[in-house]
Amino acid sequence: MAHRDDESVFLKDSPLSVQDAALRTETGGFVPALPGARITVHLDRIEDNVRTLASRVPGLSVVGVTKSACGDPSIARALVRGGAVALADSRLPNLAGLRAAGIKVPLWLLRAPAPAQAGDVVRLADVSLESELVTIRALDAAARAEGVVHDVICMVEVGDLREGLMPKDVPALVAQVVALDHVRVAGLGVNLSCYGGIVPDRDNLGRLAELAGAVEAQLGRPIIVSGGNSSTWPLALAGGLPAGITSVRSGESILQGVDTLTREPLLPELHLDAFVLRAPIVECIVKPSRPAGQRAQDAFGDESPMPEDRGLRRRALIALGRQDVNADFLTPVDPRVQVLGMSSDHLVADVEEVRPAPRVGDVVEFIPGFASVLQAFTSKYVEKEYVGGPAGASAAVGSEPTQR
Ligand SMILES: Cc1ncc(COP(=O)(O)O)c(C=O)c1O
Repeated sequence: MAHRDDESVFLKDSPLSVQDAALRTETGGFVPALPGARITVHLDRIEDNVRTLASRVPGLSVVGVTKSACGDPSIARALVRGGAVALADSRLPNLAGLRAAGIKVPLWLLRAPAPAQAGDVVRLADVSLESELVTIRALDAAARAEGVVHDVICMVEVGDLREGLMPKDVPALVAQVVALDHVRVAGLGVNLSCYGGIVPDRDNLGRLAELAGAVEAQLGRPIIVSGGNSSTWPLALAGGLPAGITSVRSGESILQGVDTLTREPLLPELHLDAFVLRAPIVECIVKPSRPAGQRAQDAFGDESPMPEDRGLRRRALIALGRQDVNADFLTPVDPRVQVLGMSSDHLVADVEEVRPAPRVGDVVEFIPGFASVLQAFTSKYVEKEYVGGPAGASAAVGSEPTQR
């Protein structure tokens, strides 16, 4: 809860976890009135987070993933300033935005394209992740028409069961790509902890590294060995990466500062609050804590259990809905604010413990998790604000574009 400046923000003795303690720093003082939801991006915190992670594991280069922020160019530039050697996104329109913004580092396409997208892929991406020969052949034809050579990372299945060839089929695919003139095997890669929830370990990444060694021998040159996404950091930071893994594609651990295997802080030095979401209270009324009357499905088809009867409680209706953010990935900065639920346009919170009682127009602050940032950037209804940009303009709201 962002309070008027005459009020204390936290109960002095409230039990705080590590994450709460980090979040506390964001509050304090008066937050100007807001007409609706706004997400503030602290570019300096993003830059710091990449720098911290990139410096921890010598020999491992960081490809910064922009997909949760829809390829936002200001965030992309912060990632590059902090040390990302390339940028990656899953959507072609996001890559087009990065190209148009004049971003100079190589751009990777994360989601395997449909063959019909090959022309756009070779124009917009320097590198794409691939596992199907038919698509690679389409890329070769499109790259020939463009007069370019397109780089592919061949994805290998090592257990998570999303994208990737079975390892035994990799050498044959590589041989077929070698026969094409306008597509080049830039490397091998894996993706883990996405579909199957499989943890990167010395066994599955070791199999990738071993296969990469064989492909390097087949090609007679070194390749990129892309050892997964943010979920690879815990192993990498513990010094456990098998030799031969050269690169990681990372979004969430940089942008949210968390270990994506647990959603706990990944390192104490990382900022957890690179994104802060704020929205105003539009109603604040004391009501019973249990709905009254016959119950059926809610607006989203859910039949949630009857809430506990806590008597009369003050409830804030906040102008933030599922059309703006993901209800499950929002942490109120003030631990006395308890999220009860969310419909398309409203977040309902219990604010009974907040003293003095909040008023209509007060602004409530949240730290959005990965899925909420993704939704906020996808939503045209959430205003975007950028602070902590490059020197000279640092800390100035709007030093980067203030709205998208
Ligand atoms: C293929 C691929 N690589 C990397 C990433 C980045 O994941 P994370 O945000 O967990 O680092 C994703 C997901 O966004 C992905 O689909």
